[in-house]
Parts: sequence; C-alpha cells; structure tokens
Amino acid sequence: MNGNPAVHNQWSSRLAFMLAAIGSAVGLGNIWKFPYITGEYGGGAFVLVYLVCVALIGIPVMMAEILLGRRGRRSPINTMRELASAEGASPWWGVVGWGGVVTGFLILSFYSVVAGWALAYVVEGGFGAFQGLDGERAGALFGELTASPQRLIFWHSVFMAMTMAVVANGVRSGLERLVTWLMPLLFLLLAVLVGYAMAAGDFERGLHFLFDVDFSKVFMSCDEAGLCEFTAEPVLVAMGHAFFTLSLGMGAIMVYGSYMPHDASIAGSTVMIALADTLVALMAGVAIFPLVFANGLEPGAGPGLVFVSLPIAFGAMPGGQLFGTLFFVLLVFAAWSSSISLVEPAVAWLTENEHMSRRKAALLIGGLAWLLGIGSALSFNLWSGDEYKVFGKTLFDIKDYLTANIMLPLGGLAIALFTGWAVSRRLPEGELAMRSPLLFGAWHFVIRYIAPAGIVLVFLNAIGVV
Ligand code: PFF
Repeated sequence: MNGNPAVHNQWSSRLAFMLAAIGSAVGLGNIWKFPYITGEYGGGAFVLVYLVCVALIGIPVMMAEILLGRRGRRSPINTMRELASAEGASPWWGVVGWGGVVTGFLILSFYSVVAGWALAYVVEGGFGAFQGLDGERAGALFGELTASPQRLIFWHSVFMAMTMAVVANGVRSGLERLVTWLMPLLFLLLAVLVGYAMAAGDFERGLHFLFDVDFSKVFMSCDEAGLCEFTAEPVLVAMGHAFFTLSLGMGAIMVYGSYMPHDASIAGSTVMIALADTLVALMAGVAIFPLVFANGLEPGAGPGLVFVSLPIAFGAMPGGQLFGTLFFVLLVFAAWSSSISLVEPAVAWLTENEHMSRRKAALLIGGLAWLLGIGSALSFNLWSGDEYKVFGKTLFDIKDYLTANIMLPLGGLAIALFTGWAVSRRLPEGELAMRSPLLFGAWHFVIRYIAPAGIVLVFLNAIGVV
C-alpha cells in the first residue's frame, strides 16, 4: 500500500494484508495480557476455554469482518451503514462502527501505558538493570517504575507520539515491512526463552499449570475463609481475550479487510492469522510460567507478571543484556503495529467523511487518547487507592475489563448478526468464494447461530442469569 491509505487503496498483495493483520493481532495481548490473565484465572481450563473461543467464535467473526470490509471498501462506520442500506436493512447498523471507534480509543488509552513499560524496559535492559535480578528485586524494579507518575506519563507520551507519527505520515507500509523482519525475530527470541525456561525454570510445573484442565480450579472462587462458590467470570474473560488478541469486534480487521485485494482467500488468511497469534501467546506462556514457579513468584500477580518474570531470566542467562534489550525492543514493535490499527477505524472515517488530512486526524485522535491515558498511568500510583476504585478496580482495570470483556464481544455479536441475518446469504457467499459449499454452509451456520448464541450465553452466564 502506498503512503496515503485512502479508502479505495489496496494492499499490494495478500501477503501484505496478512502481515498487517498479524501485526495488528500479535501485540501486548499475546505477551503481556495472555500470561497475566491465565495466571489470574488459574491456568489450563482457562486456556482451553480461550482456545475454544478462538476457534468457534474468533475465526468465524474474523472472516465476517474481513468480508464486510472488503465488500464495503470504506471505514467501518460507512461500510456498515452502506451495506445495510444496500441490503435493505436499517442504517442504524452504522452504530457498530461508532462503537468500534470508541472502543479503539479506550483500548489505546491503556495499551499505550503498557507499551510505555516496554519502552522503559528497553532502557533498563540496555543499562544492565536486569543483571543478577532475583524475584524480589525484579518486583522492586517494576514497582519503582509504576510508582512514578512522571516516568509512566513520559513513556506513555513517547509511545503515543510514535503511534501518531506513523498514522499521520502514512508510513504504515514502512512499519509493516519492518515488522515482517522483526516478528520472526520476536518468535525466535521467544523460542530462546522457552529453551531457557526448560533448562532453568520449573518447566514441568509450568506446563502442568498451562495445560492441565481442572475446571474446579478455574470456576470456583474462594474467599479468605475458604468459602468457595461457582463463578462464570473466567469464561467471560477468556472469550473477551479471544476478541482482544485477534483485534476483533471494533472494526480494526474490517478496515484492513477494506484494503484487501479481491482475489485473496479470506478463509485461508484468517486461519493463518489466528494460528500465528495463538502460537505466540502459547509460547509466551510456556516461557513465562516455568520462571514464575522457579522464582517463587505468584502466577496471579497481575499486570506486572511478564515484566517481573522475564527480566530474571535475562539477568541470569549468557548474553542476557543483549537478549533482554532486544526482547523489549521487539515487544515495542509488536505493540506499535497493533496500536496503529486501534485508531485506523477512526482515522479512515475522519479522512473520508470530514475530509480531514491524516495529519490532523492523527493529532486529534492521539491527543484525546493521550489525555485519557493519563488516567491509566495514574491508576498505578496517585489513583491506586480504594477511594479511586469502582467495584475494586482502578481506572486502568475498568478500561481493560470493559473494552475486552464487554465492548469487543458486543461488537462481535453485532457483526455476526449483521452478516448472518441482516444481509442476504449471497453477499458472504460471493465475497468468501469458498471452493467447498459444505464449508461455506458450516461457516454460515456458525455465524448465524453458534457464534451469537455462544456470546449471549457467556454474557448471561456472567451476570448470573443462566
Ligand atoms: N490484538 C492486539 C493485541 O493482542 O495486543 C490488541 C488490539 C489491537 C485489540 C487492535 C483490538 C484492536 F482493534
């Protein structure tokens, strides 16, 4: 794609589309969030539910988003509105696009703070701060960073500026080409970490934690007195994470689909994107949990898990200073190629409707998300007290929870219903152009019934109705 991704531009090839989509999907969700929520929600059974959600809901919904985008060839707001009116459905479907824009803002406003941690750790690693760390000192290093509003806001600002520079200058193709080289490198480094975890971590215990399916461990929540009761929340979080990690439910993949060439296979691309994304998450888990157990860390330690466990490994392995720095550089790049997709639905809309330049759109969106992000940064220090919490959650937690577990699945539900019910069967049939009518029939059944019913059931379950 050239430097001005106006609405009707296209990726130069299927490969370019795939790389952009993988760039969007693989990010902090895989390496930061997946391990920490898996730790919080008890391991194997949670992982299994997440995998089932990816296969049964994530992949079909991703196909729907891409096909709608490619058919509409406009920003998600206008794509939804125009496809709806062309198919005789209500123009209110445009609301789905609006929801996506708001969700993208909210996600970026905490994503950028976590990406800021990774930036700070590039510097820490470069100066050798990981050398000889034990569990306690690694915890202190992370604690010092998050205790400082200045440092968090500084790095959050740097990351936001990086994101907006790419959005404003339309040099996305450049970043994507770079990511083509860097993602395999990230993969390689994860493999090195897995090797290290095998040699120096409590590998067996890590694997058992990740892959032993014990539903009672995940679905029983116990208080200090040892009183336990059934909780459906982990299922909601696992489903929410399937949406988050695949960048689904807010139009990000739809907008990328709108630049996709017509002859590329949507089903094939989707499966590859989902596989790549899942593999990175599982590798991160396999690298991290053996270290967590070997170093006496708490798997449920929360958002700092990765930033505490991996530096211990880097501090002890040969060449760790280089590997450690490089790892966080790569993590920043993975986050960068995700964050630009978070704002693309909004930018695409502003440039096509308001005839705004990309530069202005980037400034407007970046400024707003930056401001919102200050609250996320303060959630770890000045605003971490109980008086600032709602339902025991800080502003950061609330944004994370609300977007991933409620807003993205709601967006996904709407997209599934729209594709399955509001438009005629001919639309997806033509756009997917699958060779096997049977396979198409199966997908259509899933998008009409299984995916929506699954999402609704998980919601009802979480609020205690079923
Ligand atoms: N998929 C990204 C990750 O796993 O880090 C996060 C994300 C990007 C979510 C883009 C949603 C989105 F639209």
